[in-house]
Amino acid sequence: QPAYDASPESLALIATTIARTVGARIHELRARGVDVAAAKSSAVDIVTEADREAERIITEALREARPNDGVVGEEGTGIEGTTGITWVVDPIDGTVNYLYNLPMYTVSIAATVADATAYADGRRAIAGAVYNPSSDEMFEAFEGGGARLNGSPITPTGNTDLATSLVATGFGYTVERRTMQGEIAHRLLPQVRDIRRLGSAANDLCMVACGRVDAYYEIGLQPWDYAAGVLIATEAGVTIIGAHDNQAPGEPFMFVGDAGLVHTLRTQVLGA
Ligand code: IPD
Ligand code: CA
Ligand code: CA
Ligand code: CA
Repeated sequence: QPAYDASPESLALIATTIARTVGARIHELRARGVDVAAAKSSAVDIVTEADREAERIITEALREARPNDGVVGEEGTGIEGTTGITWVVDPIDGTVNYLYNLPMYTVSIAATVADATAYADGRRAIAGAVYNPSSDEMFEAFEGGGARLNGSPITPTGNTDLATSLVATGFGYTVERRTMQGEIAHRLLPQVRDIRRLGSAANDLCMVACGRVDAYYEIGLQPWDYAAGVLIATEAGVTIIGAHDNQAPGEPFMFVGDAGLVHTLRTQVLGA
């Protein structure tokens, strides 16, 4: 029995319930138009009022459902808990898509526990939800329970051949990172079926999980980008590795795909 006081299944229900409510809210706010509220680390790294409001609603709902858990969110929430469970939240993953009304932005909510070796942030998700309100698609998983899309089990493509792989990636907001990411894309593009930059890391992980792309890699992800998505992908049977065999995935690198593909992908991306 786990030391924490709730089943992963019950935590997943909390995550999906809140993600659905907040997703509907940001979708409704989007219809009224969106302004950039502030620039963050750089001019291209933006936040809107909807990001902030969504994080407030999620945090309040989590505090009500689970008053003693911790909560960490991209827009500044940092509440210490006493249960061993910390919720890791991205209120809108894909804010740039949101700004342009591209229908691929998601709400990502994960319940995590401490696990030094699991991911770079030292945490492991045991339940999580990624919700796309534009398509009304709810991806969810709890540890040991498999992954689902709108209630039905999902499976990845199982493609182990890089040359015929559709590979998703993402780009961070700093110029140095983007220069490096451009060089990687330059090297990788002739070796794959194609590359997609869909704009939401949480969604990218779910796209691998349900077989809409074969693989995904990114450098510079934050815990809120990947917490729920990595659990959904892992529970769907996807393999996730870091930059070295002895290094947990996360910041800097994460390679996501079939067990027979991720090492080849890593070798090509790192140019080793
Ligand atoms: C970003 C998205 C994007 C990824 C960036 C993230 P945000 O999150 O997930 O796909 O490439 O690294 O920062 O800022 O839209 O929540
Ligand atoms: Ca952001
Ligand atoms: Ca994000
Ligand atoms: Ca965000």
